[in-house]
Formats: sequence, structure tokens, C-alpha cells
Amino acid sequence: MFPTHRMRRLRTHPRLRDMVRETSLTPNDFILPLFVRCGENQRIPISSMPGHDQMTLDHLPAEIAEIESLGIPAVILFGLPETKDDVGSDAFNDDGIIQRALRTIKATGSGLLVMTDVCFCEYTDHGHCGIINERHGLLDVDNDATLPMLVQEAVSHARAGADVIAPSGMMDGMIGALRHGLDEAEFENLPILSYAAKYSSAFYGPFREAADSAPQFGDRRTYQMDPANGREALREVALDLAEGADMLMVKPALSYLDVIHRVKTAHPDVPLAAYNVSGEFAMVKAAAERGWVDEQRIALEILTSIKRAGADMILTYFAKDASRWLS
Ligand code: PBG
Repeated sequence: MFPTHRMRRLRTHPRLRDMVRETSLTPNDFILPLFVRCGENQRIPISSMPGHDQMTLDHLPAEIAEIESLGIPAVILFGLPETKDDVGSDAFNDDGIIQRALRTIKATGSGLLVMTDVCFCEYTDHGHCGIINERHGLLDVDNDATLPMLVQEAVSHARAGADVIAPSGMMDGMIGALRHGLDEAEFENLPILSYAAKYSSAFYGPFREAADSAPQFGDRRTYQMDPANGREALREVALDLAEGADMLMVKPALSYLDVIHRVKTAHPDVPLAAYNVSGEFAMVKAAAERGWVDEQRIALEILTSIKRAGADMILTYFAKDASRWLS
């Protein structure tokens, strides 16, 4: 007996394979994270993220020009301030590192979309994502005291020229507070990309070196999500949409493809981003360095899988290389 249905027929010709491909990956899908720091004429390599540096502002114009020439539409900025304190003052200082980076990029006349991460962990000396207060004998991030600080930070980013703000602190009521605060400051057209389902993940390890943002005590489990929870992501997402989020994010991406799929299925009309985080990048780099995997093929396969799961855009440290490979 011959098989009645032959799936292999559509796999015979390379052009036919191209034509029946369901998921496409292009540089237009990527958002590249950049780490900016104070100082002059420095690019300090991030050891656990080969190819990525903390760069001073004078390096930004050339970097931005290169990113644009590769067809990447957007960057997201992370800042390393000159000094940290208990409330993370640099985050809402109009002359803070992010604010200066925004003005530097905008002064180049570049048409690149510039997003900013709105959070406190890079700016506080304790490394947590908000104000720490003692309640009932326990030190923890004070949710409601952190909200107005996040608003100050976002409005300061907006004034410096941010095109999209991306709050990542996982505070309750964060999106509502930010939307209201931005509207009051007449930034009613500034979109919010919410890190809606952000997990308390070991995959952020290399980033914490990159952004010098490791918590100095405890961990982030009282505000970021438990990796064991999938349904809870839908509650987080529904709240953020009700509070005014324009776009959603799932983070990390690779161990959370099911969450990406669930969020896209529940809200097919809302643009969805996924963050292919530092640990996911570092694992591929390390294995490729040993010759254990083919970096290009594996990176493109990972990025394609994130899109196939339902992401419309991907924050990824592979953005520049992947754009070169795809061209
Ligand atoms: C800040 C923030 C983190 C990442 C993005 N924004 C770190 C964290 O929550 O500890 C991680 C990104 C990555 O690992 O690539 N809140």
C-alpha cells in the first residue's frame, strides 16, 4: 500500500517550502536592548553577553546609525546611573542617564523608535524595583508608594523624548497610574508597552551584570510571577489592558512559549511582545563558543519559535546579528 497523503510533496522544492512557510522573521520584528552609562568614550564589554557593551553617550550616534542601517525599527534603553540611592533618584532626574541618552539619540535626527524601560532596580542602591518599606516587620517593595515614583520617571522620560514607555516593575495598578499620570502631563498619545506577564526568572542573570541591578537582599518573588503559573498571566494581562496598556509583553520568552500562545489566543487583537532575555542569549552564545551548536541556525530557530507561538515583536540581543543573517 502507498500512503494516501504525502506531506513530503510540499517539502520537495526549496521555493515551494518558502511559499508554504507559515511564520516569517524579519528585522522589522526586533527591538534591540541597549545599555547606556555615564562617562566618556567607553564601551565596557558585558562578559556574559558577548557582543554587548555598556556604552557612554558619545558612542550612541554611531550605534544608532548602524542599527537603523540594519532595518531594525526600535531600541529599548537601560541606564547605569552615576550614583544610586535608596529611592533611585536618577530614574526621575531630567538630567539622568536615560534622559540624556534620549536627548542624544533624538539630536541625531534618527527616525528610530526609542523605548525606555521604566523601573527602579538599576537606580536603587538596594537593587529592588521600587521603594523599600518595613511593614509588619518585613522589608518589601512598597507597591503604592512606588506608583507615584514610576509616574515621575515615565513623565521625565516622555519629556526627554521617549517614543514608548515600557514599565517592568510588576507593581499592581502600575499601568493605570502611569496612564493617568502621562495623560495629566499631556502625554496622552504616548503608548505603554506593559511587561504584563514578567516572571521571577533565573534567566535574567546576565542582565543583572549588564545593568548592575541584582537585588542586594532577598529576591523579586513578591512582585514578579511564579514560573509555575500560566493562568495567572491571563489575569495580569486583563488588568493591564483594563488599566490602559497599548501593547503587552511576556518575559522571558523561550521557557514561556505556552504563555505567549495563551496571551495571543486570549487577546488576538492586542500587539504582543516577547523578551528573549539575557540568559537565553548567553546559553546559545556559550554553547556555540564550544562548538556544540550552530549559533546562527539555533538563534533563528528560537526567534522563529517565539513568533510562531504568537509574538508580534521580539526584544532580543540577537537583533543585529539576526538582521544580518536574514538579509
Ligand atoms: C528590570 C528588568 C530586568 C530585565 C529587563 N528589565 C531584570 C529583572 O527584572 O531583574 C531582564 C532582561 C534580561 O534578562 O535580558 N526590571
